[in-house]
Amino acid sequence: MPSAVQRAMANARLKSKVVIAKVGRDSLRLDTIVNLPKIETWRREHVPAGTPAFDHREEMYDHLHETLIGDNPVDYLEFGVFEGNSLRHWANLNKNADSRFYGFDSFEGLPETWKRFDNKMVKAHFDVNGALPDIEDDRVEFIAGWFQESVDPFLEKFTPESQLIVHIDADLYSSALYVLTRLNALLVPGTIVVFDEFSSVLNEFQALENYCSAYQREYDVLAHSWYYFGQVAIQMR
Ligand SMILES: C[S@@+](CC[C@H](N)C(=O)[O-])C[C@H]1O[C@@H](n2cnc3c(N)ncnc32)[C@H](O)[C@@H]1O
Repeated sequence: MPSAVQRAMANARLKSKVVIAKVGRDSLRLDTIVNLPKIETWRREHVPAGTPAFDHREEMYDHLHETLIGDNPVDYLEFGVFEGNSLRHWANLNKNADSRFYGFDSFEGLPETWKRFDNKMVKAHFDVNGALPDIEDDRVEFIAGWFQESVDPFLEKFTPESQLIVHIDADLYSSALYVLTRLNALLVPGTIVVFDEFSSVLNEFQALENYCSAYQREYDVLAHSWYYFGQVAIQMR
């Protein structure tokens, strides 16, 4: 005669078998659908009417630079560089000789498959075989390697000197959460943080939500671009 615990376990196993049969072992699509309404809830709580919205991310970068930076120097840290398009844009925007631009990337692509609805970006997508972007600007420095290995040694030596801008364009939940949590001490009030794939609800969005919850952080939304919060810029409180 099975005990109550054995019966409960058999029951739970049966239920999970039924769920697996119905939605499959990887419930990514289901996860995405279930989580998608969180973005709309977030919008209602965090994005006041009149928040600047742009069609393209470069217009949002230009707006942030014009309204918040002007001629002043910046410390710009980008996580997820690939061929350097966004970093190049920021370095071209800001010509102050005291500005510093740091680009972090494995330059070997994504460390794991990016959980997206279409499942198209698999591990190693964005691999450039270690090639650094060709940006002729002495103010730009690249830090090659996995963030999980490169960020801490960088932080030991880095002292912010100017307005800090952190650009997170690493696509993955794990990468975004790692960067946010390791940089927490740097993300002082006023720091600008830009996300590039914000509406990928299980990734950068989820990472920001979890980081803010665990570290009791708050922010204001400065601007957004692309379809329904593709890119979002926030300022830490
Ligand atoms: C979408 S691409 C960056 C695109 C770039 N910002 C642009 O505008 O063209 C994402 C990059 O994040 C990098 N990446 C993601 N997670 C990483 C990690 N944990 N460590 C190092 N690089 C990572 C990948 O190698 C990839 O090049």
